[in-house]
This record gives sequence, structure tokens and C-alpha cells, in this order.
Amino acid sequence: MAKTIVQIADANFHEAVSHFARTHLLVEPFVTATHRQLPTTHPLFKLLVPHFQGTLAINYAAHEFLVAPKGGVNGLLSSTIDNSRVLMVKGLRIREFNADMLPQRLQARGVDDVSALPVYPYRDDGLLIWAAIRNWVKAYLGLYYPSDDKVKGDRHLQNWAQELVAFDGGRLQGFGDRETGQIETLDYLIDAVTMVIFTGSAQHAAVNFPQDGIMSFAPAMPTAGYVPATVVKAGATQKDWLDLLPPLDQAQTQLNLLHLLGSVYFTKLGDYEDGHFTDAQVAAPLSTFQNRLQEIEAIIDQRNGDRPAYDYLKPSKIPQSINI
Ligand SMILES: [Fe+2]
Repeated sequence: MAKTIVQIADANFHEAVSHFARTHLLVEPFVTATHRQLPTTHPLFKLLVPHFQGTLAINYAAHEFLVAPKGGVNGLLSSTIDNSRVLMVKGLRIREFNADMLPQRLQARGVDDVSALPVYPYRDDGLLIWAAIRNWVKAYLGLYYPSDDKVKGDRHLQNWAQELVAFDGGRLQGFGDRETGQIETLDYLIDAVTMVIFTGSAQHAAVNFPQDGIMSFAPAMPTAGYVPATVVKAGATQKDWLDLLPPLDQAQTQLNLLHLLGSVYFTKLGDYEDGHFTDAQVAAPLSTFQNRLQEIEAIIDQRNGDRPAYDYLKPSKIPQSINI
């Protein structure tokens, strides 16, 4: 019973905060700022837009049909729709963009030490993907920004940063240079863009696709408890446990909805449409990125022979963007 209650809490936190707020909602201001502030010919526009495909559409659908008063997610989660929304907003706003980059986040959580925690597939595979994306972003942006001055002097780019942090814009926390909120160096731009692409691709894959696995099976991970956790006492019977679990119709809805959300794979990380990059200089770094993703696929297959299989960060299973 205690384990089930922990699973209920985890399922609620996962959907509202880890999944919806910290991937879907985190990426949204980047989508709007990119379309509003960058010309379509801008190299950063070209790089980012494939990683935004479908994001506004799925977020709108979530707003209208899932996280809505009579919506599917609202009917499954423990709290009221108003409280779920507050939780999502808080979950997003208490985190700082710069502190959320994967290496820093793992360190802050105390799970970066491989001798203390030898196997942690999300960390181990995630860091490979992070580095691959970062190398690609670095090589790509290096074609257009030979110096920090070029970054600082890019008016479109600085307007983009401004809109992301503005109160009447993205209200993004902890983004940009600590003092000015602007983008002062090429190195920072590379990190920030890596974070956006990683969040829209790998991070979302890691939190979205387990929905169609352990999370769809209500006895393993109920999305709500049906007796208050406070009444659970030692010596509980099987009947007490069954009373805690969702009724069959709710369990069925959970299975259907989470199976759907966790089984749509549209596009693949690194697969840009033919002719998307019109600059011939992009071909070489792009093929380096694509080759590295293939190597990572093989490394993960090999790792899965020595650990409980973890497929969520295999490059072939990571879509380019948040679209479900
Ligand atoms: Fe999702």
C-alpha cells in the first residue's frame, strides 16, 4: 500500500511537472520568440524550427482537451484542474533554465558520481545524447558566429533573448547572462540552444514514452488513489489495496490515454528534411552528428545487455520535437 501511494504521487508529479511543465511548457516560449524575433533566413531559426514541429499544436490540444475542466488528464489525476494548473506553473517557475542543463541538473541531484551510482541509464545515455547535440550545435553556430562580439552584436538574437525573459513574453527564469539577461558569449549560446533541442527531443522522449509502459498499467502506477492515503494502516488487506486502486473504468481510461500519448513516434532526432539547410557548409557537421547518433544507438544496445533494458534514449526512438 505504501509503495502504491508513492507511485500515485510520482505519477501526478510526473505528468504535471516533469512531463507537461518542464518539457511542453518550457519549450513553448522558444517557439513563439523564434517565430516573432528571428527572420526565417536567420541561422538559429533554421536550426531550431524542426525541433518545434507540432509543439504549439499539441500544447493547444492539451489546453483544450486534456488539462481542461472535463479533459482526459484532468479526469485521471488526483487533484482538481485548478490545483493541477497551479502545480504545473510552480513546477516550471521554481526552476532556473541555466541550472537545468543536464550535467548541472545531475550534479545538483547528486546522481552524477558513477562510482556511487554505477548504473543510471537516464544519466548514462542522456549525457551521450547531450554531448552529441552540443557538438552539432557548436559546429553549426561556429559557421555563423566567429566571435563573442558577433553574438553580442546580433540584434535579432538579443531581441529573441529579451522576449524569452520579458514579463509580457516568456517569463523564463534564470536564462541568459546573470547580470544582463542577454546572450554575451558564443559558449553560452551553444549551451542554451543545446538545452532547447535536448528538452524538445531527448528529455521529452524520456518522460513521454514511459507513459505507454509501466504508467499505463493502473495497478503498477495509479494516477489517483480512491481512499485517502491518511487512512492506510499497517495490516491492510488485499481488499483495502483494491479499494485504493482506480475503479475499472478509470483504469481502462488510463490505459487507453497513456498508451496513445506514449506510442506516437513522429520524426527522428537528427533527421532534417532534405534541403532544409541550404548552406552547403552544414553538410559535414550534420553528417558527423548523424553518425554519432548511430554510434550511440549501438552503445545503448550493448549497455542493455548488462542492465535492465532502457530504450527511451535510443536515438531511433527520440523524435525531433514535442508533438505528442
Ligand atoms: Fe508529451
